[in-house]
Amino acid sequence: MAQTRIAVIVGSLRKDSYNHKLALALAHLAPSDFTFETLRIDDLPLYNQDEDGNQSAPVKRLKTEIAAADGLLFVTPEYNRSIPGVLKNAIDQASRPYGQSAWAGKPAGVVGISVGAIGTALAQQHLRNILAYLDVPTMGAPEVFLQAKDDLFDDKGHIGNEGSKKFLQGWMDKYVGWVKSHAA
Ligand SMILES: Cc1cc2nc3c(=O)[nH]c(=O)nc-3n(C[C@H](O)[C@H](O)[C@H](O)COP(=O)(O)O)c2cc1C
Repeated sequence: MAQTRIAVIVGSLRKDSYNHKLALALAHLAPSDFTFETLRIDDLPLYNQDEDGNQSAPVKRLKTEIAAADGLLFVTPEYNRSIPGVLKNAIDQASRPYGQSAWAGKPAGVVGISVGAIGTALAQQHLRNILAYLDVPTMGAPEVFLQAKDDLFDDKGHIGNEGSKKFLQGWMDKYVGWVKSHAA
């Protein structure tokens, strides 16, 4: 069976990141013909337009990985009511040089988890604006604004809370169909 490849971009570099855990748990809810690979963004240099003609090896790698993907999944925390700088840096790096963006046309899901009560809503809204400019179609609904709670993940790293599991399974089912509809 042909595999649908999803490139996962996590906006946190933290070792025990809830968003990283969420990315792994979501992959468990997907059908077997979907593969999820988290792309490395922690070794990218800070974006400098002077380097556009001579992009570093980690930037080239990131762009190649995005190009090979059928879909994107952004899983991000909210930092100071926006997206983390590491995520914006990765987005900027892979969007250049002008006219050679790796992002254009790749269908994307946007989700996030935070310790705050509004669960990354503002970060996701900023991210959707950025992705619209980059010609990345984003699935609109359902939106996933999760607040970190003790029972959210079980000891296997799956979604442990039944209500959240049902909701996220519904999200994944729609995402799978939506990515496939863009590939068709
Ligand atoms: C620099 C910084 C800014 C933050 N700003 C917000 C914020 O605006 N909204 C929010 O809900 N949480 C905010 N937080 C708390 C994060 O939700 C929390 O650190 C979360 O664990 C980050 O996600 P991670 O576990 O994937 O690293 C902030 C944390 C940091 C370190």
